[in-house]
Formats: sequence, C-alpha cells, structure tokens
Amino acid sequence: MSNIMPQPKTDPIIPFPLNVETVRRDFPILDIHVGEKPLIYLDNAASTQKPQVVIDAIQRYYMLQNANIHRGVHYLSQKATDAYEEARRKTARFINAESEDEVVFVRGTTEAINLVATSWGSRYILEGDEIIISHLEHHANIVPWQMLCERVGAHLKVIPINDDGDLDLDAYEELLSDQTRIVAIGHVSNAIGTVNPIKTMIKTAHSRGIPVLIDGAQSAPHFPIDVQDLDCDFFIASAHKFYGPTGIGFLYGKAHQLDAMPPYQGGGDMIQTVTLEKSTYKKAPGRFEAGTPNIAGAIAMGAAIDYLEHIGRANIVTYEQELITYAKERLQKVEGLSLIGEPAEQAGAVSFALDSVHPHDIGTILDKKGIAVRAGHHCAQPLMKRLGVPATARASFAFYNTKEEIDSLSVALEKIRDLFV
Ligand code: ALA
Repeated sequence: MSNIMPQPKTDPIIPFPLNVETVRRDFPILDIHVGEKPLIYLDNAASTQKPQVVIDAIQRYYMLQNANIHRGVHYLSQKATDAYEEARRKTARFINAESEDEVVFVRGTTEAINLVATSWGSRYILEGDEIIISHLEHHANIVPWQMLCERVGAHLKVIPINDDGDLDLDAYEELLSDQTRIVAIGHVSNAIGTVNPIKTMIKTAHSRGIPVLIDGAQSAPHFPIDVQDLDCDFFIASAHKFYGPTGIGFLYGKAHQLDAMPPYQGGGDMIQTVTLEKSTYKKAPGRFEAGTPNIAGAIAMGAAIDYLEHIGRANIVTYEQELITYAKERLQKVEGLSLIGEPAEQAGAVSFALDSVHPHDIGTILDKKGIAVRAGHHCAQPLMKRLGVPATARASFAFYNTKEEIDSLSVALEKIRDLFV
C-alpha cells in the first residue's frame, strides 16, 4: 500500500473480503439494459449508483417521518428532527470529526466551497492577500475563489503540476508567502485521479499558520477520511459521489473556524432572535443552514454512510486499488490508447485518448454498447489546457465494478479504433 493513500485505520470492523457479485445485488440499477446491452457503468466520478438501503431510506422518510425539522412540537416533526440530527452524527463519525457541531449540511461540494469562500473569505481575505489552489482543480474549487479575488482585490496562486499530473511540491512551498491566507486543494483529481499528498501539504501550510481546505468530492467515496488526523481546517464532499442522493453534502469545519464565520445565507432556522432592526444567529452548524434543508437527503446520506461502513472501508480501498491497477494495465494494451496523466498515486478515475478519435465519439459509441463513461473537459478546463488536450475520455470506478467490465471496455475501444483508423 502506498504512503500517501489514506490508510483504513478508522474502520470499526471488516465484515468480509469484498465479494463484488454480492455487492452488485445491493444496487438495483446495475441490472438494467441499455437497448440490448447490459449496463456497464463507468461514470462513478460524476455520480455513483445508489444501493437499495439508500433508496429505502428516502422512501421510509416520506412514508413515515416527513415533516419540517427544528420547528414543531408534534410527533412527526420530532421524528424528522431526530433522524436529521442522527445523520449529522453519522457524518461526523464518517470523517472522524471531533463533534457533530463541526458538520454543516449543504447542497454539495460546490455550495460548500462557495460558502467558505464567501463567509470565511469575507472575514479574512483582504486586498493584496493570496489564495493558493492547484492546476488540478475542478471548476468548483477555482471559480468561487476567483469571484472572491475579484470582489476584494486578492490574488489566486496556482501550484503547477508535472507532465504526469502530480503536484510540484517544491513550487508549492515557494508559493506560500506572508500574504497567503488559505490553501484550497482537491484531495483526488476528478479528471485524472491524482491522489495529492494532502497530509504533508496541510502540515507545511500550518507551519506558517495558513489554514487548508480540502475538496474531498473524489476521495470520500474511495478511502476513509480522518479530519483530525489530517488536521485540515475544512473538508468537503457530496453524498451523490459516495452512494447517497443528489442535492446533499457536507462541509466539515474546525469549530473555531466555523464559529468565527458570519452566516452565508439568511432566513428561517438559522437565527436566535429577529427584530425589524437586527437579528442574531445560531451557533454553527445551525447558522449556516438557512431555510428548510434537504431533510430526506441528509437522512439518506446517513444510510449511505452506514452502508459503506457495512461493506468495510478497508475492503473498498483494497478492491478499488486492484481494479484501477488492472484498468491501467488492460487499457494500455489497446493499440493507439494513451493514458492522460500517470500520477504516482491514482484513485477513482483513468483518463485516456485513443489515437485521433474525438473523446465525444468514444463516449457516444461506447454508449451504444451499454458502456457509460464521461467524455469532455470534466469541469477542469485549466488542467486540460496544461495537459495539451481539449478533452479526454474518462472511465471512473466504484467497488461494484468488475475486471470483466474493464475487459468489455477495452474490447469496445479496440473496435472503435478499428472503425476510425
Ligand atoms: N465532478 C463531476 C465529474 O467529475 C461532475 O464528472
């Protein structure tokens, strides 16, 4: 096992070595056909499929628990509130937060980064200050910071990458300056799967008193996260990428960071008192959850967390690493195929080009064969530009994928090449 891949030490139990055929039965959608072809779903970095327990949690909520939270004294409201707050405790456990008060429910990763850039940014970022991101980032971890920089006259600094798609850590250290106010980096690249050495990077930033935000959208699905061990100031993820529903995710923030941040949106449920002259706000996390939240989504995210713990995070790491190693080896045997990015540590996704076949043609023809991949810039246009490609085809994996599916993808790619060359 690698030294930067997070180790699964937070797992409470390892129930069984992952049996992929058993696991696949938990996901009803994996039985569907696309036309005549059985579905081969390799677009998990965009969104994962949902196990029956998550689907059941949504249905159970609307059948037996549905009411607004934190507001009613009646039976259903209390039941819904209890289930929602239980989901917060599960989320805290999922990332080993010190307290559930450090967990804010949000719409997803994008909203969480906008929340921090807007709220934390309004408190701490001034004209001339610097914010560090990397060349690997998803647009969600670029644009909110650009908007903040434009608002206040701050500057965005970018950690470069090498041709393999790894961060240049010497350049990172050189970028850190007395003006740096925050480092915001992705844990795993959604486009090429680079696993960044975030623990070391956090330590380096902290040695200069600089806080760090980790975009964990593409790491939370693949390995255990321990925010106390990482010592990150913020950690963010979206449930739909770890087998939960869309429209819900979480922002972890160290208590002292969240407590110092002004509200992001105003409205119901985030206040202590309101007069027409002035309002006072709840403590975190409540002050960041204005309006009726995605109650069913939070509860179902809790069900996804339970499910991942039942499968065993150690099992997931081991199985998925085997799968991605196999994918890289097998794909490279396809004539004319070149991998885009060959980072030292890789998780979740493999991007590739196939001679001069346009990635969109690859995606469209694969779809006719029942194989779902993503083709495009993967919301990472600066990375595409750096790698010298307008777009890539990307296969991204979950623990329900099999080596046979990777074989089918490879055979399909061989046929596509024959068509075009
Ligand atoms: N961020 C998602 C992806 O990488 C949408 O496909």
